[in-house]
Amino acid sequence: MEVFDAIETCRAIRYFKKDPVAPELIEKIIFAATRSPSPGNTQGWDFVVVTDAAKRAELGTAIAELMQPIVDHVEAQFGGPERLDDVTARMLRGALNLALGLAEVPVHIVVCGPNVYPQPNTTPEATIMATTYPAAQNILLAARALGLGSCLTTYQNTCGEAIHRILGIPDEVRVVSYIPIGYPDTNHNSFGPLARQPIENFIHANGWQGQLRGAALPE
Ligand SMILES: Cc1cc2nc3c(=O)[nH]c(=O)nc-3n(C[C@H](O)[C@H](O)[C@H](O)COP(=O)(O)O)c2cc1C
Repeated sequence: MEVFDAIETCRAIRYFKKDPVAPELIEKIIFAATRSPSPGNTQGWDFVVVTDAAKRAELGTAIAELMQPIVDHVEAQFGGPERLDDVTARMLRGALNLALGLAEVPVHIVVCGPNVYPQPNTTPEATIMATTYPAAQNILLAARALGLGSCLTTYQNTCGEAIHRILGIPDEVRVVSYIPIGYPDTNHNSFGPLARQPIENFIHANGWQGQLRGAALPE
């Protein structure tokens, strides 16, 4: 698959078939993750891959229980998905479905950041995030290229202690993202064009006020 096709159609997938994913494909995804850049090429990342059904069930149960108050809060805040526009309501329903049904998702990749590159001019958190998020993005794109769906989540914000305990992750290692992966259930939204604003809304050419198109050309 051409890289731009993968980028343009790499939607967050939140409904999965139960079909297992071949270990070779998981290795390809981790290969892609470990080809990302990192400060000083320190490669400060670890990936806990969970495929074992009992372990997924343990994680799924713990995360669903801990996420339930968040689900209730979100529903109360938005007054229920019926008050939202279609896209937001679908996203919210999907996010809730995913958080409460994780046990059934065939692969969970927990992206971890060991603090291997302390720097004087920043915080360990900033360096760990900056190191691991390119790797997480490579996971999403590699999965897409292999026909697998994925969704970057931050369950660790609410369920960090449970994730650490169940997976035996050392205390000093940060969990930075939790990525469920599997073949998309095409009864729901699957791969397709992303809803994003046009690039003009984000480009600042040669300074904050500048336009790229129509910018003065060099003499
Ligand atoms: C830092 C970060 C945290 C996210 N956390 C969650 C999450 O906890 N649960 C979830 O279902 N999606 C999560 N997402 C996915 C976003 O909701 C999704 O990328 C966004 O809605 C755009 O959807 P699209 O990629 O399908 O266009 C997260 C994405 C990022 C980058």
